[in-house]
Amino acid sequence: MADSPKRNISAGLAMMAAVAAAGDAIAADYRGDPERGEKAFAKCLACHTIEPGKNGLPGPNLRGVVGRPAASLESFTYSDAMADAAAEGLVWTPETLSDFVREPEDYLPGTAMNFLGVPRTRERMDIIAFLESLTAD
Ligand code: HEC
Repeated sequence: MADSPKRNISAGLAMMAAVAAAGDAIAADYRGDPERGEKAFAKCLACHTIEPGKNGLPGPNLRGVVGRPAASLESFTYSDAMADAAAEGLVWTPETLSDFVREPEDYLPGTAMNFLGVPRTRERMDIIAFLESLTAD
């Protein structure tokens, strides 16, 4: 029995939806790979250092940033937007980091982080795993 073209199209759409859902499930289970994250972090290095005690780049030192309250480095002058978010209790957890780094200006309008963001979820998770692998000092 041959399927009608209409049935074939809806079967195709259902399969595409299933594939998309499977992609999300993989991302939800994905742990983040610190070695891949170190490579991906190259695009952050223009503005951020992770060397202990080092300052003077356009962005704050990110060593130990996971678990750190936002805008908490005395050595760095943050934007009002970041300082306000910190006053409201923003802390850099893997979740808030992922949201911010995905699209900084969208997450925190007025941020001084002049960077388009990292749209790929796995790449953000890799970067966060890398940052988590660094000790605070
Ligand atoms: C063009 C320069 C630039 C690039 C590239 C950049 N940042 Fe930033 N970043 C900044 C600046 C400037 C700030 C301070 C933002 C503010 O005060 O609003 C910042 C702030 C941050 C903060 C908040 C730190 C704190 O102490 O509160 C995090 C986290 C962060 N960036 C992560 C990243 C990651 C991860 C990447 C790479 C995917 C990246 N940034 C790429 C300039 C940059």
